[in-house]
Amino acid sequence: MLELTHTTKTHDESRQGEALEMVATGKSNGRKLYIESYGCQMNFSDSEIVASILTDQGFETTKDYKEADVVFINTCSIRENAEQRVRNRLKEFESAKAKNPGMIVGVLGCMAERLKSKFLEEEKLVDVVVGPDAYRDLPNLIDKVDDGSKAVNVLLSREETYADISPVRLNSNGVSAFISIMRGCDNMCSFCVVPFTRGRERSRDPQSIVKEATYLFHAGYREVTLLGQNVDSYKYTPVVEEGKETSATVNFANLLALVADVSPELRVRFSTSHPKDITDEVLYTMARYENICKYIHLPVQSGNSRVLELMNRTYDREWYIDRVDAIRRIIPECGISTDVITGFCTETEDEHQETLSMMDYVKYDFAYMFAYSERPGTLAAKRYEDDVPEEVKKRRLTEVVNKQQEHSLYRVQNFVGKTHKVLIEGFSKRSDQDYCGRNDQNTMVVFPVDPRYKVGQYVHVLGESCTSATLIGRIID
Ligand code: SAH
Ligand code: SF4
Ligand code: F3S
Repeated sequence: MLELTHTTKTHDESRQGEALEMVATGKSNGRKLYIESYGCQMNFSDSEIVASILTDQGFETTKDYKEADVVFINTCSIRENAEQRVRNRLKEFESAKAKNPGMIVGVLGCMAERLKSKFLEEEKLVDVVVGPDAYRDLPNLIDKVDDGSKAVNVLLSREETYADISPVRLNSNGVSAFISIMRGCDNMCSFCVVPFTRGRERSRDPQSIVKEATYLFHAGYREVTLLGQNVDSYKYTPVVEEGKETSATVNFANLLALVADVSPELRVRFSTSHPKDITDEVLYTMARYENICKYIHLPVQSGNSRVLELMNRTYDREWYIDRVDAIRRIIPECGISTDVITGFCTETEDEHQETLSMMDYVKYDFAYMFAYSERPGTLAAKRYEDDVPEEVKKRRLTEVVNKQQEHSLYRVQNFVGKTHKVLIEGFSKRSDQDYCGRNDQNTMVVFPVDPRYKVGQYVHVLGESCTSATLIGRIID
């Protein structure tokens, strides 16, 4: 899963509580909702479900928490500092609540699930705590708070996929949208809190996914990203009614094809792929469809087999290399990105060197890199000592980051002199004289505005120069 907190503070911050400009679909109840999200794209996507449930109840959304009647913070527990950021933010809500005692403050998402009702004791200003599978209960929980009590629902579900809820698109550029295709995770990587905060893995009905993609396409969107913690294990077996013919199980490759068939003009991306599950069938499907972007996020975590085993990743260095080789063979132009953790329990200097050599082997286009942060309740916290000193974790992280900078530059330099199909996503952050969008491999491309082409259209851009992460070019006809 693309995890946003670390990469781009700017991205994160620029999105917080923004652009909640959808008008209520039902009758207004005169109350305003503010919601801000942390963590992975799944959380941002869930906030759109929450907004949908509450706009149906007559809430209007606002970008300013100070004028809100209900303030929600959709939280992440992945690392200690992700939780710290949320706690700091809650402090900032205190003065707003002091001025407006009727204001309801709610904690949603992974931290809510992890801490449950403890949250109410720890943070006095919080009125409601809601886990990721309980958002349908929000209207009822808000009623409870209105009646003067605190409210908690952190039940996890084996079925909930919110399949029937059309998300209200928050902060949207009107061109790219995320579609959740599954929830939860069954993998139990030893460092990871997600299986505890998100519950068991379940896949969403493919028909509802295709319907959502089709709806988005007709609404002018030109790119969808299919989201899940481990999209390659997507599997939907229709419930068969008696007397009816069995329809076949849909796997991730089948789903990709179904979504790609919505229109050749609709780009399809996905995240995250797990190295143990990504199949050649998925790779061949990607190769077959021009509109499935040639980009795979394939988190390696470590380049050393012993560490991978301790992490319970269920693949080793050779397996990972085999998957990378398969990608290069079947989709030679494919971009690959990764996640890396430095200083996991007992990691030695030599084992760290193997992560660096893996990076040299793959030469990733991008990477999200973290120092290991022990999470309470995880297998690693129970079984292994967090024994790599903080400064060693940080130094290893710096080495990994420096290496990645070289490789990102190498990849983007390779795009110079070539022509790229780019979907115009909007104006560049720096200047409204420039458009920006991404190429197939997910690299950001910036080029001068040409009034013949509008946001949401595809153009061919010749790469002329680059910075460390961005390709700069011009439209060619
Ligand atoms: N499902 C995705 C991961 C989601 S979490 C996957 O399997 O790839 C995003 C990333 O956060 C992980 O890939 C991992 O690199 C990092 N991460 C997770 N737990 C962590 C921890 N305890 N300390 C440091 N980084 C962690
Ligand atoms: Fe966490 Fe592993 Fe599941 Fe990813 S696959 S969410 S890292 S347990
Ligand atoms: Fe995502 Fe953070 Fe939860 S990465 S799944 S919001 S712990």
